[in-house]
Amino acid sequence: MNNNTKLGLGGHSFIGELGNDPEASFDEQCAIVSACLDNGVVWIDTTYYQERFALGKVLQHLGRRSEARITAWNFFREPGNDDRLTGFAPYTLDSLGVQLAELQTDFLDLLVIHSHDDVELLRREIELASIWRAAGWVREVGLGMARREDLENLPAGHPITRVLAPYNAFNVQAANLFREAKVRGMDTIAMSPFVRGWNLDRLEADRKPAAAATLLRWVTTQEIVDTVFVSMRRAEWVGTNLAAEMQGPLSAEESSLVRELTDSLK
Ligand SMILES: NC(=O)c1ccc[n+]([C@@H]2O[C@H](COP(=O)([O-])OP(=O)(O)OC[C@H]3O[C@@H](n4cnc5c(N)ncnc54)[C@H](OP(=O)(O)O)[C@@H]3O)[C@@H](O)[C@H]2O)c1
Repeated sequence: MNNNTKLGLGGHSFIGELGNDPEASFDEQCAIVSACLDNGVVWIDTTYYQERFALGKVLQHLGRRSEARITAWNFFREPGNDDRLTGFAPYTLDSLGVQLAELQTDFLDLLVIHSHDDVELLRREIELASIWRAAGWVREVGLGMARREDLENLPAGHPITRVLAPYNAFNVQAANLFREAKVRGMDTIAMSPFVRGWNLDRLEADRKPAAAATLLRWVTTQEIVDTVFVSMRRAEWVGTNLAAEMQGPLSAEESSLVRELTDSLK
């Protein structure tokens, strides 16, 4: 068991969209989650409702809900659009019950509110999350796709303890957000170390393992990053990515590989 890893399992591991590998079978999903929990990768993200259904089923089957720290975002099933990945929708009174039922759990470790420009509506969502947290249905509240300026607009006494944003060698925009979040005592979650899996698949096969390991370490070794959500549609990638992380900071040669990759894959 590795208690020092920053890795968390991305929810896109449970769906076929947004990746190259086909959707993992139920057995493979169980193997992925088991490999994560056996090795200290306890944070498991879910963005779309399909991911919540899948994770709920897997954890129920494995009997390991209590070992996982479940994250859920406000992307909901739209009637008549069951197969689609829908956009985010603001939280309402009913939202949490839906998420909990899909995940087959009675609390969330981290409820994520997707940021947006309607400051008043965002405040109401934050108020709702505070009520859910006080009731014990939500352990922590995070702000997802957060921007630096969102931190200025948070209401006094807000419950936000984590910010989440895409952050990788190709997209460093969230660096200011993460720095400021750390100053304010919040934790940071960097998402999508490879941007998407298909980005890596543009490389020749023999270059892929070193590229993946280097891009992952570029994120995991940063002090402003507490957790990294990476999708893994194959159980074997859990060990591969943990081993990469354990190699620690990049050498000068590896840093130039990162520059080469960001130039060639942009
Ligand atoms: N970026 C956003 O806007 C956003 C928003 C909300 C939530 N998130 C969260 O962030 C998570 C991660 O984002 P992501 O899935 O878009 O991008 P990602 O983690 O950068 O890419 C994941 C893909 O990389 C490939 N991969 C993983 N380990 C590998 C290895 N060792 N060697 C080669 N390939 C490897 C797999 O590709 P294939 O399976 O495709 O082959 C995997 O699906 C999501 O699952 C989600 O939980 C992201």
